[in-house]
Formats: sequence, structure tokens, C-alpha cells
Amino acid sequence: MPCVSLAGTTKTFEVKEGDILYDSLYDQGEVLPHGCLSGSCGACRVVIIQGKENLMPAGVIEQNTIDSVRAELDPKTSQEMEIRLSCRAKVTGHVTIEPLK
Ligand code: FES
Repeated sequence: MPCVSLAGTTKTFEVKEGDILYDSLYDQGEVLPHGCLSGSCGACRVVIIQGKENLMPAGVIEQNTIDSVRAELDPKTSQEMEIRLSCRAKVTGHVTIEPLK
């Protein structure tokens, strides 16, 4: 079963394959930073520390918001980061994430 680990903690959560990252952790009592929960505000941005290949590809709405988030960040720093939205990203394997402020 896929799992999600929170970087810098010992927390790891088992999730169902294909489940949305935010929803899976919320159901287990871990509330990640969030806003609209519909992919448009970017408040749920996370950096994928490990396992970016274990998330389904971003859809158009998610990608547009990620592009906006990147535009707010230092270009050098953001180029090196794998940014996803926890309210849209679907998990297919083990990932380690860190909320991005
Ligand atoms: S909570 Fe707004 S984009 Fe995810």
C-alpha cells in the first residue's frame, strides 16, 4: 500500500492508491495547510522530497496553480523543487513531502 511521510517528522501514513494526498492525511487526523481545496489558491503547496514518480501527473488546473506558485518564489530555488498541490495530487506509491510556506 502506498504511504506518505512528512519530512522532518516520524509521521508516515498509509494511503489507498489513487487517493488525493490532502484527503488521505485529513482522514487520518493530519491537517495539512490548505485553502480552497479545489486547486486554485496554492495554499496547499508541498515540496516532494522523495517519490515524485509516485504521484499521478498534475492536471491542467493543478499545473496552472503550480506555475503561479513558482512565479512567487526565487526562480533558482523553485526550479530545483518538485512542487505539487496536496488537494489535487493523487498518490500511487511512497512519497515524502514537506509543506511549502
Ligand atoms: S487548497 Fe487551494 S489549491 Fe489546494
